[in-house]
Amino acid sequence: MNNHVLKSLVFVIPFAFFFLSFVSLKTETLEEKVEKLKKERKLVAFHPENDKVKNRRYSNKGIIDLGKTLFHDKVLSRNNNVSCASCHENTKGFSNGERFGTGTHGNKTVRNVPHLYNLDMNMSFFWDGRATSLDEQLGMVITSKDELDMDFTEIVTRLKANETYKLKFDSLFPGDGVTKKTFSQAVIAYEKSIQSYGSLYDKYLDGDTSVFNEKQKKGFELFITKANCITCHKGVNLTDAVFHNVGVKTDDIGRSKIDKIGMSNEFNSTPYPFFSTFKAFKTPSLRNVKNSAPYFHDGSKKTLRDVVEMYNKGGENPDQTGLAKEIRPLGLNEQELEALVEFLGTFSSPNEY
Ligand code: HEC
Ligand code: HEC
Repeated sequence: MNNHVLKSLVFVIPFAFFFLSFVSLKTETLEEKVEKLKKERKLVAFHPENDKVKNRRYSNKGIIDLGKTLFHDKVLSRNNNVSCASCHENTKGFSNGERFGTGTHGNKTVRNVPHLYNLDMNMSFFWDGRATSLDEQLGMVITSKDELDMDFTEIVTRLKANETYKLKFDSLFPGDGVTKKTFSQAVIAYEKSIQSYGSLYDKYLDGDTSVFNEKQKKGFELFITKANCITCHKGVNLTDAVFHNVGVKTDDIGRSKIDKIGMSNEFNSTPYPFFSTFKAFKTPSLRNVKNSAPYFHDGSKKTLRDVVEMYNKGGENPDQTGLAKEIRPLGLNEQELEALVEFLGTFSSPNEY
């Protein structure tokens, strides 16, 4: 090899490498992208049997069934007219198909009724995360004037007066019977049993890529690339468990009420990330999302199509304060919007509750 050839190789080889890596980037398949994100634990199929927190769940079927009966019983409300299931209906994705719930006094709730799938994985509860455990959450929903307007003493009295309940509690909780604690234990056991898994999406991640049609594949690709949904809707429960302002047009100040930031106008002067909780809400899990319309904390979007159109615009709130930096116009065309909606349908689980 003469000097001239060697010299030109010095130039050609790095260029060839650069060119090849560029080509391979361009042609990375959906499967390859998914494999990478699986390694980063951003895409995770749910297998309850492998779940580390399994031990925390109540596995006693009797207690779960009792919890289910209580969940559907109107005796839990002040006027005997509303049960948990009146707002959280299992046939409506554990929401109620309406913008707001209707409480025991006929009033509307302030926010949309959220679904209850995979609650055990949540770090906080309610749209603004103001409860940090299911016990705390239950106490709030029982006593809230907007919802059941009850107290635990009255619930225990009513349940004790009912012979069937009394016997059931006595046999399931020997020595304790009906108490605030055993009542809560039963309701929470049922709540934790509402698990969403075994969906097409889980199957795809488990390696059976044939379960998706072309549209769903296209939608998945968008979800993890151009549409950038994966930054917040990630992990086994498709949520990052924190709070963001995604540009919903609303007067509800959301999480900043809890953090006591953004109450007056200090969010105008406090630098990011402090004002980032202004109008921010908990990223909801997208498990079974197709079933629980309408959407967002205010139930303002009737369909998933409306939701993705809002994201495509980069939000709709004219007040940009606190808007998450990931929210910006996405430039998705008609077919891409359709594909994304089709993909969101793959999170639905065949389970019954
Ligand atoms: C009147 C309608 C209504 C009734 C009745 C009701 N809820 Fe809710 N529930 C809601 C609304 C609305 C929210 C969200 C409120 C918020 O975020 O400010 C909610 C939130 C929740 C959450 C938090 C979910 C999450 O992802 O953060 C749980 C858990 C829950 N409810 C369980 C129950 C249980 C158990 C009962 C019965 C004891 C019950 N609810 C009764 C309307 C209702
Ligand atoms: C910056 C974080 C973030 C990004 C990016 C994001 N989301 Fe969300 N998502 C949220 C939050 C937070 C909410 C609740 C907002 C509210 O109610 O005001 C939400 C709500 C939703 C809901 C409504 C669920 C329900 O139960 O009401 C759907 C559906 C949804 N997102 C899908 C998507 C899709 C599809 C994308 C990509 C185009 C996306 N999200 C991008 C954080 C995000």
